[in-house]
Amino acid sequence: MKNKVLITGGAGYIGSHTCIALHEADYDIVVYDNLSNSSREAINRISTLIGQNIEFVEGDIRDTELLRKIFASHEFFGVIHFAGLKAVGESVAKPLLYYNNNVSGTINLLEVMTEYNVKNLVFSSSATVYGDPESLPIDESSKRSCTNPYGQSKLMVEHILEDLAISDTGWNMIALRYFNPVGAHTSGKIGEDPKDIPNNLMPYISQVAIGKLDKLNIFGNDYPTVDGTGVRDFIHVTDLAQGHVAALNYLDKQINLNESRTIQKNLVGFLPINLGTGKGTSVLELISAFSDVSGKTIPYQFTSRRSGDISSCYASADKAKSLLEWQAKLSITDMCKDTWHWQSMNPNGYE
Ligand code: NAD
Ligand code: UFG
Repeated sequence: MKNKVLITGGAGYIGSHTCIALHEADYDIVVYDNLSNSSREAINRISTLIGQNIEFVEGDIRDTELLRKIFASHEFFGVIHFAGLKAVGESVAKPLLYYNNNVSGTINLLEVMTEYNVKNLVFSSSATVYGDPESLPIDESSKRSCTNPYGQSKLMVEHILEDLAISDTGWNMIALRYFNPVGAHTSGKIGEDPKDIPNNLMPYISQVAIGKLDKLNIFGNDYPTVDGTGVRDFIHVTDLAQGHVAALNYLDKQINLNESRTIQKNLVGFLPINLGTGKGTSVLELISAFSDVSGKTIPYQFTSRRSGDISSCYASADKAKSLLEWQAKLSITDMCKDTWHWQSMNPNGYE
């Protein structure tokens, strides 16, 4: 029988790409999303791409009764938990909203999972839990610290999952710490669709390229990097989606292995894994790559540093390679090409 997986936040940017990768890997999926930062059109497009209607439930992870109903009517192997709010600036202005949605919402989901004895989880964590890293590349044992409510909410959930793993060895949980997801599906049918002016670099660049925004503000050119601008580990969303398939496959394999063992049990517990390419790219390097593939000039100006930004951040991707047998394949050129394809085919996103 195919494993069935609940995808919270599956209508969102990373979730929608992961739905396609899971379908291609022969998983059954049920998407659960309150559409607070996504649209029904994304669901329609996923269905078109996979050639069948996906099962979609419009609901909030804080709605216990609805979650119970969904768990009662399906036999889930596990949950991939993307649902959450993600805007750092908004989290500073509305901390209670972020803690309620991201932390209370996750606790609620975990409680219902416990009730229905579904104890396999892949959680969307973030490189933000490393704060300002002491050394590079960042591996999973690096110190964790956060300075804003969004980051805190991810770190709090990681702590909750760690405690849960200690309390009950039946849990198998992987926290995937994403670096900087960019790009879009090669079809150009799904991609990132920011509701307001983008906070993140790649969608901002592509909206400048399409003429929706005048110019890019580059936040600082005096960092100790190759050209003074910030350096990040950009990862194609399609590679990231494959990382989720690899994580589920890993859980499945470990569980089967355990069932066949009589003496030594080796459950997953809480396992944090970076999903990055291991390579850093500067803001100016990304702009140049985007100009090359789109043929568009990206006007920009240097402004002061953005509060809370760090200089450089890139992953050690060794753990994902050795445990999950996964590594990123797509290049910065692929990321820019697919972003531009999505942006030019959908100048107004899913509208
Ligand atoms: P997204 O906003 O596109 O997707 C999140 C989805 O969750 C949205 O469809 C939204 O409607 C849904 N959602 C939010 N709160 C919900 C709730 N209470 N109940 C049900 N659904 C809810 O964001 P994304 O970029 O796809 O990110 C997915 C996850 O990955 C998030 O948890 C985010 O914090 C994390 N993450 C994202 C990045 C990034 O740069 N995109 C980096 C690291 C981690
Ligand atoms: N930048 C600009 N101008 C912009 C936007 C960004 O110069 O308009 C610069 C930033 O200063 C930084 C780089 O581009 O040097 C990347 O910035 P992003 O906002 O795209 O990404 P961040 O690394 O700041 O943060 C993102 C998510 C976080 C997540 C983190 C790690 O916003 O939520 O990646 O996964 F935690």
